[in-house]
Amino acid sequence: ETQALAERYKDSFSIGAALEPEHLEGRSADVVKFHFNSIVAENAMKAPNIQPQEGVFNFEETDRIVQFAKENQLELRFHTLVWHAEIPEWFTLDKNGQEMMEETDPLKREENKQLLLKRLEDHIRVIASRYREDIKYWDVVNEVIDENARNSKKLRESFWYELTGTDYIKTAFLATRKYAGEDAKLFINEFNTEMEPKRSYLLELVKELMADGVPIDGIGHQSHYTIGWPPLQDIEESILLFSSFGLDNQITELDVSIYSSEPEKIYGSDEEIPEELLQEQAKYYGDLFELYEELDDQISSITFWGLADNRSWLNFRAQDLSNGNGKDAPFVFDSYYNVKPAFWAIVK
Ligand code: G3I
Repeated sequence: ETQALAERYKDSFSIGAALEPEHLEGRSADVVKFHFNSIVAENAMKAPNIQPQEGVFNFEETDRIVQFAKENQLELRFHTLVWHAEIPEWFTLDKNGQEMMEETDPLKREENKQLLLKRLEDHIRVIASRYREDIKYWDVVNEVIDENARNSKKLRESFWYELTGTDYIKTAFLATRKYAGEDAKLFINEFNTEMEPKRSYLLELVKELMADGVPIDGIGHQSHYTIGWPPLQDIEESILLFSSFGLDNQITELDVSIYSSEPEKIYGSDEEIPEELLQEQAKYYGDLFELYEELDDQISSITFWGLADNRSWLNFRAQDLSNGNGKDAPFVFDSYYNVKPAFWAIVK
């Protein structure tokens, strides 16, 4: 039989998968229980799902995931308290139902800012108080740096930023610490953390925030990769950069797409994907985990952004690129939950 992933890496870091509630039953649940010791919700805990209306919380899916984690002794990550995408509309309207962003009067803008920060604090208070015993790691803010992937040296000009500057980041971390408790580990989650100048900028930002009393424990490296990208050296340098400042590192959204950014060919099913491509993917996965293992003092957890190739946000991307027929295959389990060459490469 196969070796369990979490067992293989038990001396190094936890191994997780991002799940939808539908994964908690059947074959997918068996795979999670056998191979993983950590989980995160791919979508269930995002703001529109968990607080669709002001003061109206939908804990059903989150409770199910928390319960599943408890029953199976799995660590839990929370994703995500703050994001520029996935903001429920009520968050963005002032007390008269107008878009806060459109307010030009400085006094009313200040009023809106306070209202927004209050809503944010309340959102976090209710969630973190409820799950503080269950959830260890929190993605407090997600993707706060400007979109331009490689050259980012400024904050993203999001709704949050336009209304509050960096105060939303401070409020979010302080509130999470307050309500989730001293033992909670608080993360700033970001993509392209391997790239310069973005990674240096991210470190500067974290240093400034921490100097200002903002409690940050670690960097969440999303790690949405493609075969051969990024170069392992950039990944290593990035992890070492953040850990040299005393920060923890977690790999929070790992996947290795079989497509480059401008693919020539998109495959429509597992059966169409050439074995050679799966071998190349396996090689990259193998090298990547060898690096992670070398850096295991600096990395506390590794989470795949999904479980098996039948379900991945990258499949939607592949569909868009191919008039609806494409799929990706970014994980170590195929669409039928069978292990792939990449699986053997990371357990060897
Ligand atoms: O909820 C509806 C459902 O009712 C409907 O049947 C279905 C049909 O398409 O759509 C469902 O919502 C989709 C949801 O995923 C659940 O599948 C949304 O349209 C879709 O936008 C949403 O996409 C998610 C995306 O974040 C936006 O929230 C992806 O699954 C999720 O993988 C992706 O994850 C992000 C991380 O949070 C942050 N980092 C990047 C990462 C990848 O984009």
